[in-house]
Amino acid sequence: MEFQKVLAERRATRAFTDQPIALDDLQQIVQLAQQAPSWVNSQPVRVTIATGDTLAKMRRQHAQLNHNQEVHSHSVIPYRPKNEWDSAAQANMDDWFEGNIEQVGIDWRQLSTAAADQLYNAQAIVYLTLPKNYSEWSLIDTGAFSQNIMSAALDRGIASIPAFEFVKYADALRTNIQLPDGQVPIVGIGLGYADQAAAINKIHANRMPVDEVLTILK
Ligand SMILES: Cc1cc2nc3c(=O)[nH]c(=O)nc-3n(C[C@H](O)[C@H](O)[C@H](O)COP(=O)(O)O)c2cc1C
Repeated sequence: MEFQKVLAERRATRAFTDQPIALDDLQQIVQLAQQAPSWVNSQPVRVTIATGDTLAKMRRQHAQLNHNQEVHSHSVIPYRPKNEWDSAAQANMDDWFEGNIEQVGIDWRQLSTAAADQLYNAQAIVYLTLPKNYSEWSLIDTGAFSQNIMSAALDRGIASIPAFEFVKYADALRTNIQLPDGQVPIVGIGLGYADQAAAINKIHANRMPVDEVLTILK
């Protein structure tokens, strides 16, 4: 795919078909993602991918955890409710919510919650992990690595979603997949082929005008 198209057309996909992803594709995607820059080439990111039966089991458990009132999410990077973000970020979140109602309908939240219960039916979840005592700079490296994964995937026609949803129960995650020693899960990226018929995939997030985010000093 043309490079500009890869960047312009990537979208968070919230419903994937049952078509599995070839293991070769997964390996090549991660190998390309490794080209991401990192602090002094420290290359702190490790990758664990759940697919097949492992993921089917995790999907069942995830729905149960989401519906268990006694279970609270506990991610490595703490969750922060909307009202604790700065006002500009809150305004963008509100725009996104309104856009979702226009594009998907008033029940977009229910659809989104149901899709989340099923881990969006992703056919592979790529968990990016860091050493427990990671430097905050490594979070930047993880972001770069993530974007490379999503771009390399889309180049092969594979859609993606980066999601808090995948790492919100960090302890349960550790019981299902063995992470490398001393590593903690930072973010998960779901991969698969987009279900074009799914209403939840009609979400198309806007971006702010570039002159509102960019300052060029002369
Ligand atoms: C770190 C991170 C975590 C996210 N977590 C979720 C999530 O748990 N559930 C979800 O539906 N979308 C999640 N998203 C996707 C964002 O909602 C999405 O990227 C944003 O609305 C912009 O839309 P786009 O990616 O389609 O351009 C996450 C994105 C990022 C970068």
